[in-house]
Amino acid sequence: MKNLSALLSKNLEILAPYLKKKNIVEISINKPQEVWIETTNKGWSCIKDKNLTHARLMSLTKILATESHQDFDEETPILSLSLPKYNYRLQVISGAAVDSGFALSIRVTTEVEIPLSSWFDKTTIKALKSHIKDRKTILVSGGTGSGKTTLLNSLLREIDNNDRIVTLEDSKELIIKQPNHIRLLKSKTGTDVAKLTYKDFINVIMRLRPDRILLGEIDVENTANFLRLINTGHDGSFATIHANTIKGAISAIVLNCQLAGFQGTEDAVAKYALSHIDLIIQVDRHIDENNNRTFSAEIKEVNA
Ligand SMILES: Nc1ncnc2c1ncn2[C@@H]1O[C@H](COP(=O)(O)OP(=O)(O)O)[C@@H](O)[C@H]1O
Ligand SMILES: [Mg+2]
Repeated sequence: MKNLSALLSKNLEILAPYLKKKNIVEISINKPQEVWIETTNKGWSCIKDKNLTHARLMSLTKILATESHQDFDEETPILSLSLPKYNYRLQVISGAAVDSGFALSIRVTTEVEIPLSSWFDKTTIKALKSHIKDRKTILVSGGTGSGKTTLLNSLLREIDNNDRIVTLEDSKELIIKQPNHIRLLKSKTGTDVAKLTYKDFINVIMRLRPDRILLGEIDVENTANFLRLINTGHDGSFATIHANTIKGAISAIVLNCQLAGFQGTEDAVAKYALSHIDLIIQVDRHIDENNNRTFSAEIKEVNA
């Protein structure tokens, strides 16, 4: 775990009460002096905090940007990064693009290992483990906060310790125990000083000789690139996609390919897009009237 610089440490103090809180899932500042926190047991609640002034929030964000080699100013008012030391995903938008002048959200991830038995029965787990061993390509689909990254981490633990893994994420959420790995980070908002594109990363990944590639999230920008990777011999790769149903995930993949310029009928594009995806696992989060959260998953074998 990297230590924080003294400057960042000092500026982060305004968030310390929330970062220390138990059972926290999300810390969201909708506007200066108003923070909303989501906890696992109580859902959302609002706290007024006069320490969270616009000036302090902007100063913190600027330091975060500088220390992670990203731009953040009037021309680049959006910042997305991993909070140093904590590795929590942080998103900021400021200026005229947000009515309140400043908004921030931090996804607090606990490094608790959730066992596969939290989603699947014994038989399914056995089948899933052998799919992973057989180098099947797996896509985890779900809405925001449905458990995509959490399940991806649980699947990642099943990968052989000798496999060489290359990951590409926009913030450090994957917990990689396999020693032979390289973790690549791509700025989601393109605000990195180096301005690296997905295409740049994909070309690099191919030459890093991975046994398996793990992609944080495939979206309109990188679906076609991901398919290129898995269609060129990188099976056994995993990725997540934002969709509410398995059907929705398939449509999203096809649409993303079409937007990336793939020609041909919808069926032809779907055939290419899905030819190397073996499993889609749809995850879901359910909240009951007492605010208790439960998680579920459904597996579809795509080309079975
Ligand atoms: N099976 C599960 N059991 C308990 N908590 C879970 C489970 N799956 C996800 N969570 C929790 O739900 C929250 C959101 O999960 P996450 O994987 O970050 O969602 P997503 O990547 O889909 O946005 C996290 O706090 C995570 O620990
Ligand atoms: Mg996620």
